[in-house]
Amino acid sequence: MRPVLIAACLLLLAPITDSWWASGSAVILDPRMVCKKNRRTRGRLAQICRNETGLLKEISRGVTLGATECAHQFRNRRWNCTTQRRSMRKILMRDTRETGFVNAITAAGVTYAITRACTAGSLLECSCQKEVPKPRRGRVAQMPQPPSPAQTDRWQWGGCSDNVRFGLQKSREFMDSRYRKKSDIKTLIKLHNHNAGRLAIKNNMKVECKCHGLSGSCTLRTCWWRMPAFREVGDRLRDRFEGAAKVISSNDGDSFMPESPNIKRPGKKDIIYSEESPDFCSANMKTGSLGTEGRQCNISSAGTDSCDQLCCRRGYVQTTIREAENCNCQFKWCCEVICETCYVKRDIQTCL
Ligand SMILES: *[C@@H]1O[C@H](CO)[C@@H](O)[C@H](O)[C@H]1NC(C)=O
Ligand SMILES: *[C@@H]1O[C@H](CO)[C@@H](O)[C@H](O)[C@H]1NC(C)=O
Ligand SMILES: *[C@@H]1O[C@H](CO)[C@@H](O)[C@H](O)[C@H]1NC(C)=O
Repeated sequence: MRPVLIAACLLLLAPITDSWWASGSAVILDPRMVCKKNRRTRGRLAQICRNETGLLKEISRGVTLGATECAHQFRNRRWNCTTQRRSMRKILMRDTRETGFVNAITAAGVTYAITRACTAGSLLECSCQKEVPKPRRGRVAQMPQPPSPAQTDRWQWGGCSDNVRFGLQKSREFMDSRYRKKSDIKTLIKLHNHNAGRLAIKNNMKVECKCHGLSGSCTLRTCWWRMPAFREVGDRLRDRFEGAAKVISSNDGDSFMPESPNIKRPGKKDIIYSEESPDFCSANMKTGSLGTEGRQCNISSAGTDSCDQLCCRRGYVQTTIREAENCNCQFKWCCEVICETCYVKRDIQTCL
């Protein structure tokens, strides 16, 4: 009797101890923590937490995707989007433009990972979209024509389109539903930025086509929708970060407006914030700034990674490092390339 009982217990435990939480989940928005807090509530979020393990796994992947892209986009800046737990928690408690970017890229990452999983057929709840997505009635048809070389006679929708609608919906359910009843300015901004992140995918879907025809001729083409590369999503959101708009609470208390009346109202795709950023020059536990001491700067750059800017004019130290490189490579019959290892000296600069 006992071994059976133990086996049954192990089975029950399996979804909990399963390694998906431990593996990828970045600290930005830890699905495990979100679920722990909301498991007992009613609504779609708790349902996802209780029942949809496959989906949660993709959400977790999406969070990591967003975090990785964030670190890439900010690698040359004072704030480099490091996912160091304490720092990121502080960033997310504030409401600066960095907070806005993190929220946007996370919502985008979650949408992206779920949609990709639908297309790959790895989620039970969804699949790719087989039929033509029809433009909504009453709207100008936003359906682009596929790029058409002159020799193309006909084309048709077909194949396996990315089903972004499902990804958008699940991203909303998981990330937004628990805030729906609040209308303080911080919550409004958070929901707005989540949406801006999702729109960076939805508004930039691409048409991909394949030719069918005798010997590669393009007499018939089949076309489908594909999401943009996630790097493109990151680039676009980074542009929105550069042009982020500061907003304040409106008089009615449940909407926001631009801080300055001279600025045009931010659109749905824009990243917004309500609080000025710290300069991120020195470490500060309160703001989540890690400071730039010890960061490598670039003396030949004029941008954000220049030694002047990155080191906040404190100066830098130069050290010479030796780097291994392949050299004196020879082609050896047949078929190998044999190289020696050479060491080259390189100067690097790190902030004081
Ligand atoms: C949970 O999953 C079971 C079995 O797949 C299903 O019958 C049930 O309706 C689901 N419950 C919720 C709350 O989604
Ligand atoms: C990001 O900044 C932190 C804090 O200054 C630093 O420890 C880390 O190495 C940086 N990461 C990268 C990839 O430069
Ligand atoms: C330093 O900046 C220059 C100019 O922007 C760039 O060409 C170079 O690749 C950078 N070097 C490093 C190590 O990033």
